[in-house]
Amino acid sequence: MGFFSTTGGLVYHWRALRFRKNEWAPFRQKVSTFLDAWNPPEKELLILGPSGGHTLPSDFLERFDQVTLSDPDPLARIVFRRNHFDVKTKWLKEDLIFKDGIYAPTLLQTYLTQHPKTAVLFSNMLGQLGLVHSDLEALKNWFEALKPTLDQHSWASYHDLFSLDAGSNFPREIKGDVTKSLWDWASKRGLPVEIVDHGTSELFSNPPAPEAFVWHLSRRRVHIVGTFSHRRDFASPV
Ligand SMILES: C[S@@+](CC[C@H](N)C(=O)[O-])C[C@H]1O[C@@H](n2cnc3c(N)ncnc32)[C@H](O)[C@@H]1O
Repeated sequence: MGFFSTTGGLVYHWRALRFRKNEWAPFRQKVSTFLDAWNPPEKELLILGPSGGHTLPSDFLERFDQVTLSDPDPLARIVFRRNHFDVKTKWLKEDLIFKDGIYAPTLLQTYLTQHPKTAVLFSNMLGQLGLVHSDLEALKNWFEALKPTLDQHSWASYHDLFSLDAGSNFPREIKGDVTKSLWDWASKRGLPVEIVDHGTSELFSNPPAPEAFVWHLSRRRVHIVGTFSHRRDFASPV
């Protein structure tokens, strides 16, 4: 991956610089509340897709003795350090998702078996994978294969469900059924709109996501973000 990519990179960092403190503030607050509620008991955290940590709260990250990060964006570690100076970080060189361009569940399974006491956060990256590798069936199979190993850890995800050019008048909140809300909004608007399905709805269809966040990524672009969290029961053996 170079400095420009469909899932992050220079354009994303530039947008963060421009919008993080204003347009992104309500979304960042929701992510912070979501992570506080998750509150994993582990002292180590693995973050997949941290980028520069633009949507991650420092106070949440500082709770961990070590935060391990994996992101192919070459700028991610410099920007992350600038945003979260006091977080104890370790960057992985290896990709934990793909091997030779193919989804490879054994990569993350092996890492988690070697690090039984780590919590895992998919930080707005599962919805990007379909942009890198368009086979959504392969994404689903990869995730299904991972779930039993993930469930032995605390793990959480916030991830793009849908995105669209909706403009700044799009509602700040969506309650209830996301697809229906989008359909109702598009019907009232009366103009055609292209909605990108990020392929994550089915990954979390059972149980459905409790609440979807609305992220005004720019003045035009809106992302609808789903969440999931699981807290490991430390009474059960490792
Ligand atoms: C929308 S950005 C994440 C935003 C970030 N969590 C934040 O707080 O600003 C998606 C990230 O996923 C990363 N990504 C893409 N493929 C990845 C992979 N195979 N492993 C880890 N991260 C990946 C991209 O480089 C990008 O930084």
